Amino acid sequence: MHGSSHADLGSSPDGVVTTLTTLVSSDDATPAGEDWDPGAVHGYPGELSAVLIPAEALQAKIVELARAVAADHTLESPPLLICVLKGAVIFVTDFARAMPIPSELEFMAVTSYGSATSSSGVVRILKDLDRDITGRRVVIVEDIIDSGLTLSWLVKNLATRGPAAIDVVALLRKPEAVKVDVDVRYVGFDIPTEFVVGYGLDYAERYRDLPFVGLLGEHMYR
Ligand code: IMP
Ligand code: MG
Repeated sequence: MHGSSHADLGSSPDGVVTTLTTLVSSDDATPAGEDWDPGAVHGYPGELSAVLIPAEALQAKIVELARAVAADHTLESPPLLICVLKGAVIFVTDFARAMPIPSELEFMAVTSYGSATSSSGVVRILKDLDRDITGRRVVIVEDIIDSGLTLSWLVKNLATRGPAAIDVVALLRKPEAVKVDVDVRYVGFDIPTEFVVGYGLDYAERYRDLPFVGLLGEHMYR
C-alpha cells in the first residue's frame, strides 16, 4: 500500500484472529494529502488520516473466518446468520459468499442509547427477526465489539427464543470487549482503542461504503 501506515497484519498462530499491535493514531499516520488520500477516490477527500486494514487484508481474513465457521457446521444444519444492522451489512455479504456451505440470512436492527461514539447497554429493537429461530444454530454477525454491551444484550435476548446454538462472529474487536462476559467465538482483528470507519462502520452515517477500515482525521469529529 503506497504511503499508508497500517499496522502489521501477521496472523496469530493459535487461531483466526489477527492482533494489530501497532497503535495507528492520527499523529503517526501519513497525513492525507495530494499523494496519499485513500478516501479521495471514494468521495471523502481530506477526511481520513490512515488506513488501518486495507481491503485485501479484510477479504483474506473473511475467507479464513468463513472457513472456520463452516467447519463447525454441517450441510444438514446450515447456520442462520443474523446480521446486526446497519454496520455488519457489508461484512455479512462478503462473509456469506465466502462460506463453503450454505447459510440463511436474517436481519435485526437494534439501537443502543448513548453518545455518537459509545454505547450505554440500554438497547431497543428497531427491527426484529422475520422468523422463529427455535432449534436453529444461529451465528450473530457483528461489525465491531467495543464495550460489548449491545452484543451481550442481544445474546441474552436471542437465547430466550430457543435456538440450538448461538455463536458470534465479529470482524473487529476493541480491548474494552474483554470485560464483557460474552463468548465471541470467531474474531477477525483485535484493534487498538480508536474510532474507526469504513467497511460498514459509520460516523454520523458516513463512510460505511469504504472498502477498507480507516481512521477518521481528528478535524472531522472535533
Ligand atoms: P458496543 O455496544 O460498545 O460494543 O458498541 C457496538 C456498536 O457501536 C457497533 O456495532 C458499532 O455500530 C458502534 N461502534 C463501536 N465502535 C465503533 C467504531 O470505532 N466506529 C464505528 N462504530 C463503532
Ligand atoms: Mg454506528
